[in-house]
Amino acid sequence: MTTALTTGATAGIGAAFARRLARDGHNLVLVARDRERLRRQAAELHDRHGIEASVLVADLATDDGIAAVEERLADRTHPVDLLVNNAGFGLKGNYLDVPMADELRMLKVHCEAVLRLTSAAAAPMRERGRGAVVNVASVAAFVPRGTYGASKAWVVQFSQGAARDLAGSGVRLMALCPGFVRTEFHQRAGMGTRNIPNWMWLDADRVVDAALRDLARGKTVSVPDPRYKALMGAVKLVPRQALGGVSSRAGRKYGPRKAPDVSL
Ligand SMILES: NC(=O)c1ccc[n+]([C@@H]2O[C@H](COP(=O)([O-])OP(=O)(O)OC[C@H]3O[C@@H](n4cnc5c(N)ncnc54)[C@H](OP(=O)(O)O)[C@@H]3O)[C@@H](O)[C@H]2O)c1
Repeated sequence: MTTALTTGATAGIGAAFARRLARDGHNLVLVARDRERLRRQAAELHDRHGIEASVLVADLATDDGIAAVEERLADRTHPVDLLVNNAGFGLKGNYLDVPMADELRMLKVHCEAVLRLTSAAAAPMRERGRGAVVNVASVAAFVPRGTYGASKAWVVQFSQGAARDLAGSGVRLMALCPGFVRTEFHQRAGMGTRNIPNWMWLDADRVVDAALRDLARGKTVSVPDPRYKALMGAVKLVPRQALGGVSSRAGRKYGPRKAPDVSL
């Protein structure tokens, strides 16, 4: 039986990964900060699918939290076959309106934790000659959109580069780039969503199904859903300068109302 470790497993896309992987018969290690929620979820998935689900409480914005997950991934007596680096969050506000401590916390969770956990998992996977890592990025990686977009662009570049370096080793890496997904993400960040048209919303379970299909096909970047594939195709044709304007207008729309008027 194989084991999958998912970070941010208590809600949204991470919980959808846990449901799908449990249904497929994988044992699970569920990582997040909310102990009670993790325990409830582990018990539910064990009862429903008969798999072993263990809980690892860790705040990936801290060194101790990252180290605890690294230690679990490096445990060669209980190997992890699939790592899903999914934990993440959004921040409401334009550049310079967001406190620096929050920006740094985002880089810690979206970049440092992803780098360290991927490395902790991939080394023993390479020794065994098999394994996979899915790093959850976003379509925001492809448009100029603040620290969030920049951190997700890093996830895509890092995953593609590492996948290339590990080609032929039996270890696969893939960046997953969804568009808007109905989860707790926007509510947690205090972002309004009324302006986002219905057709742009994706379902977390379907995103996960598409991601696992793409992983099996050997893709290194997955943009689930044909609507976003088409959008991302169009984005490549738009000059970067123009894209910056559209993307920052969208940011103001979905983010805070206040936009300082500074003309130089
Ligand atoms: N929803 C979207 O529209 C969308 C689109 C593209 C990409 N994404 C990406 O998808 C990933 C999952 O987001 P989601 O939409 O599923 O959000 P969500 O519903 O808010 O779930 C976020 C998960 O991450 C965990 N988490 C947050 N901060 C953490 C930390 N410091 N340490 C450990 N766990 C932490 C949360 O659990 P605890 O609070 O218990 O720790 C929760 O399980 C993120 O990387 C996000 O950037 C989301």
